[in-house]
Amino acid sequence: MSVQPRYSPTMATFCRLFLLLSALTNALGSNICTSRGSTNCQQCLTVDPKCAWCSQEEFGKGGSSISRCDLSQNLLDGGCSEDSVEFPSSTMTVQKDKELSDKATGSAGHVTQIRPQKINLKLRPGDYKQFTVSVKQVEDYPVDLYYLMDLSFSMKDDLDRLRTLGNDLAKTMGRTTSNLRMGFGAFVDKTVSPYMITYPPEAVKNPCHGIHETCLAQFGFKHVLSLTERVASFNEEVGKQLVSRNRDAPEGGFDAIMQAVVCKDKIGWRPDASHLLVYTTDAKTHLALDGRIAGIVQPNDGLCHLDNENVYNKTTVLDYPSLGLMTEKMSENNINLIFAVTNYVLPLYQEYSQLLPGTTVGMLTGDSGNVIELIEQAYAKIRSKMELEVLDVPEELNLLFNATCLNGEIIPGVKSCSGLKVGDTVSFSVEVQLRGCPKEKSHTFTIKPRGFKDSLEVTVEYACSCNCEADAEGNSTLCSNGNGTYECGVCQCHSGRLGPRCECSVEDYNPTDDANCIPKPNSPVCNGKGVCLCGQCSCHASEFGQVWGKYCECDDFNCLRFKGELCSNHGKCDCGFCQCDAGWKGKNCNCTTRTDTCMSNIGLLCSGRGTCECGVCQCTQPGAYGATCEKCPTCPDSCTIKKKCVECQHFKRGQYITDNSCSRICKDEIIPVDELSDKKNAVNCSYKDVNDCVEHFQYYEDASGKSILYVIKEPECPEGPDILVVLLAVAGAILLLGLAGLLIWKLVVTIHDRKEYARFEEERAKAKWDTANNPLYRGATSTFTNVAYRGN
Ligand SMILES: *[C@@H]1O[C@H](CO)[C@@H](O)[C@H](O)[C@H]1NC(C)=O
Ligand SMILES: *[C@@H]1O[C@H](CO)[C@@H](O)[C@H](O)[C@H]1NC(C)=O
Ligand SMILES: *[C@@H]1O[C@H](CO)[C@@H](O)[C@H](O)[C@H]1NC(C)=O
Ligand SMILES: *[C@@H]1O[C@H](CO)[C@@H](O)[C@H](O)[C@H]1NC(C)=O
Ligand SMILES: *[C@@H]1O[C@H](CO)[C@@H](O)[C@H](O)[C@H]1NC(C)=O
Ligand SMILES: *[C@@H]1O[C@H](CO)[C@@H](O)[C@H](O)[C@H]1NC(C)=O
Repeated sequence: MSVQPRYSPTMATFCRLFLLLSALTNALGSNICTSRGSTNCQQCLTVDPKCAWCSQEEFGKGGSSISRCDLSQNLLDGGCSEDSVEFPSSTMTVQKDKELSDKATGSAGHVTQIRPQKINLKLRPGDYKQFTVSVKQVEDYPVDLYYLMDLSFSMKDDLDRLRTLGNDLAKTMGRTTSNLRMGFGAFVDKTVSPYMITYPPEAVKNPCHGIHETCLAQFGFKHVLSLTERVASFNEEVGKQLVSRNRDAPEGGFDAIMQAVVCKDKIGWRPDASHLLVYTTDAKTHLALDGRIAGIVQPNDGLCHLDNENVYNKTTVLDYPSLGLMTEKMSENNINLIFAVTNYVLPLYQEYSQLLPGTTVGMLTGDSGNVIELIEQAYAKIRSKMELEVLDVPEELNLLFNATCLNGEIIPGVKSCSGLKVGDTVSFSVEVQLRGCPKEKSHTFTIKPRGFKDSLEVTVEYACSCNCEADAEGNSTLCSNGNGTYECGVCQCHSGRLGPRCECSVEDYNPTDDANCIPKPNSPVCNGKGVCLCGQCSCHASEFGQVWGKYCECDDFNCLRFKGELCSNHGKCDCGFCQCDAGWKGKNCNCTTRTDTCMSNIGLLCSGRGTCECGVCQCTQPGAYGATCEKCPTCPDSCTIKKKCVECQHFKRGQYITDNSCSRICKDEIIPVDELSDKKNAVNCSYKDVNDCVEHFQYYEDASGKSILYVIKEPECPEGPDILVVLLAVAGAILLLGLAGLLIWKLVVTIHDRKEYARFEEERAKAKWDTANNPLYRGATSTFTNVAYRGN
């Protein structure tokens, strides 16, 4: 009897077969490179970054079954000589890497705030490279401040105020920089009806004619004082200004911003300085397309049009600039725009600020009295935030960012840091991925912190072509006496020629070969899309694209389309199926594989409430919405998440304060209230804080999706104990205890007594005293003998 288990014979056979099979597939080298059937070197490189091409003339010993596109080791093993293997690889070289500067002063203008400064990348399609960028705000950086003032009539008191402002402004800014320049410009509106008062005719020269005052003729924008270190000339020039007057309420300030931004030479913006453009107004502003009311249809060209008098002389020719154009020009010229506007128009400019990256908004008091404070705060705000912007990235490059802000915590998918001090260094890791092969050979793009001059230049060379293509030989003798082009080891045959060496031609037609060209009985020769030559299908050219395959069954135009684009323009059509470029997937390649768009600001994909599909969050948690499912008043965890924001935003404590992530994560508006109101779709939350008090708040999203947290001002704290009550209670307790003790003692003693007494009684009853025998008994009488007695 055997106790050992045995493999059954069938099992053993199966195992052997399996091993044999896998060995065979290994030997044949079936992998991603070989499976695509690439017919030339360039095609092969796009398959996968791992693939290489053998351009050797003799390869595969005549057998055509061995693929020239394979892993490079397989090619070498297969007999391809080393210098015939085309295998460009992705590389990265840092070309310029100067140290970050500490201070701007004394560095002779060579301030470095970003490191490295120049990187060269070579990327294979589908491949990526990572590098780290460090950014530092140096101390004492020079500041250029251009004061752009609305000089319409309502700003009269502000102008009076500004006349006395120069010295204070210089002194205040002197605290942050020792190198300040100030300049001044003014605007009203386009000098054309209906913006201008044109009647009576005197009003053109003196628009205040109607109100019996004198003021300046209306103007669009005039540049008054170029940036200068001399505060005195600022005061002097401002002192000379007079207000003007126009007809409609909105002013033409955006025209002025555009000119102040792009006229670098006239304004005198220094390349190595922070550029603050302070825009003060108390009115709304005209926007692109408003010019049509005055018949102005030519769009703003974003160029400088200051004439010899420094006046914008295209004000009546060009329309107001669009927000998009302003953003572009401000970014190009590193301008930080500060809207200093009055209370009445504050919400409007806050909205503009959302649309114009890098701008800040401050509230101006009626007479501009607080403008210095406002500029100081705005500058601090500008300096406390650092955001990378990327200029000129072609569509084929995919950029991913992770930020490492102050405490070394890595924040994935984010390219900005806030809450910084001057002198802090932050870093960002950047991944550059090449999705497909663009037409150009290389491209240079720029990464720079917004509002900084310093930038990192990244040049990407696309490794999409093979060296051997340079040696291609047209009409080569190797391809049947010049019937094809010999390139990278293979012949690309002219039309009408076939075979690995283009050895067959139309003239060699032989009807008996047709049997080889029929895919299955009763089907047409070459599926009707070609003719049979030399026993091979020669496919017809099609006006839509190429047709190929043994039986002409394949083409590159019958694939799924999305919005009319073959394979969504993100892939190649390969025999009925889309072969998506790197970074895309899906049957029609319309689904991006990038996920950075799904990253919420708490650092979770779709806030952990959904899945990222094709770069868009699909919120799975009921009630969740928003681009990253970040909004969800009714989610069970919303109170827990928002609790941390209440703690940090309102009480300035808790985890987010410790790790400095409050302003990044919590974008809610906090409104302290006395009592919660009954709002639809609002959620009431409460929690116990560090002091054991119960905090109540209400989480509400308004119609625009803005999250508001109403926090009850007074938390509910447990009542402190009353001293008197405590004293009385303690005294009472002691008394009670004492009494009880006494009672118990009394009880015990009584019981004991009773017991003793009972025993005594019992014993007494038992005792039977014998008087006769009582040894102690003596007779009560004593007999004495009277010796003198003689009886009678
Ligand atoms: C505006 O000023 C520039 C520079 O002085 C001049 O070349 C141009 O002709 C002027 N354009 C108009 C419309 O006056
Ligand atoms: C960002 O972080 C994620 C995970 O934390 C990591 O997988 C990714 O490679 C990082 N990307 C970059 C550009 O450093
Ligand atoms: C190849 O030959 C054709 C005709 O024989 C000619 O038109 C063409 O210019 C030649 N190409 C090259 C690259 O020599
Ligand atoms: C193509 O090949 C044939 C035979 O091999 C030769 O006669 C002919 O000249 C070649 N055609 C060209 C364009 O060179
Ligand atoms: C991709 O295409 C499919 C089919 O046309 C469509 O249903 C889907 O919405 C598209 N996805 C995206 C992200 O556009
Ligand atoms: C939240 O609390 C307020 C005030 O106590 C109440 O009026 C309101 O109905 C509550 N809302 C919900 C959803 O419970």
